[in-house]
Amino acid sequence: MSAPDAAAEDGTQALLAADRDISGRVAPLDLYYRWESQHWQISSLNIAQDRPDWAALPGFLREELLHTVFRFAAGEMAVTQTLAPIAHAAPTEDYQIYLSTQIADEARHALFFRTYVDGLRAVGIAPSAIDRERDETVTVGDLFEQSLRTITGQVRTDPDDLARWYEAIVVYHLLIEGTVAMTGLHSLLRTIREHGGFAALREGLTNVARDESRHVNFGVLALRDGIRAGHRELIVDAVRRHVPAAACTMVAPEHRDTTPRLVQSLTDRPRRIGEQWQFAIASLGKRLAATGLDPETVRSLVNSFRQGCVDAVARYRELHGVDHPVRLESMDAGSLAEAAL
Ligand SMILES: [Fe+2]
Ligand SMILES: [Fe+2]
Repeated sequence: MSAPDAAAEDGTQALLAADRDISGRVAPLDLYYRWESQHWQISSLNIAQDRPDWAALPGFLREELLHTVFRFAAGEMAVTQTLAPIAHAAPTEDYQIYLSTQIADEARHALFFRTYVDGLRAVGIAPSAIDRERDETVTVGDLFEQSLRTITGQVRTDPDDLARWYEAIVVYHLLIEGTVAMTGLHSLLRTIREHGGFAALREGLTNVARDESRHVNFGVLALRDGIRAGHRELIVDAVRRHVPAAACTMVAPEHRDTTPRLVQSLTDRPRRIGEQWQFAIASLGKRLAATGLDPETVRSLVNSFRQGCVDAVARYRELHGVDHPVRLESMDAGSLAEAAL
């Protein structure tokens, strides 16, 4: 394995660490100390070195990859802007200390993607933005734009309402980070590994993946503690209500796939996208199981997520007048959830 491939492998390993650790008993302060030992610097990345790799990509592939990087830039900014109320309202001091480290992480992620995108714009790889604050070329989906903004606004208004706090952890840590973002990172790292190159992006993504693994661990432990403390019903209800938005945000039906049909069949693209969705379904199942929910409830929630994917695929057809490349018939959410338990 070449050095770049090894780095991409590290990123994937960092994602898998999130699954390995959720079954163990990790405390918030363990995650704090892990954070102390895992710092990284945007300023040490040489973003300009990726330019030839971007320039060498076929146009449609560059468009797809750019779209994903733009979505990460927007998504990381959204989670940076909304974490403070969750940290402020956290029910224990240890939670508050851990969540304060996560605010710093999210700011670093947002600045990393922003710096990377600005670097691509500066060399003409990405179109220049007239006004970054009003850049409407990318939407990040209802999970960010509605669920996250609404619930964290409610936590800010009423920090003593524990039900809203747990709902915010469901939306932020379980669905956005643990399901949608982890799947996006997994997919992006795989694409980069297959193409080779993109050393700065790969290094940055690997660092982000390591951080996100801590964040997902925190979400699972907070929900597990919440279920043990008697908040099971409201947590299950929150997952059920927000899971359709999570599935829709992952499928992103508003984004028309620009890959030519011939290339899609040559590269087996539909199967690969389908595998990513299965990765998301399995990830959600594993994390829900690790919170201590019973297998039947986990299966039911995972099936709601799968149904959300089916609905988003139908929406794609409505919006664009063509079928989505992915067929969902082969995705058996029940057995995937079973495998995760
Ligand atoms: Fe992040
Ligand atoms: Fe995060």
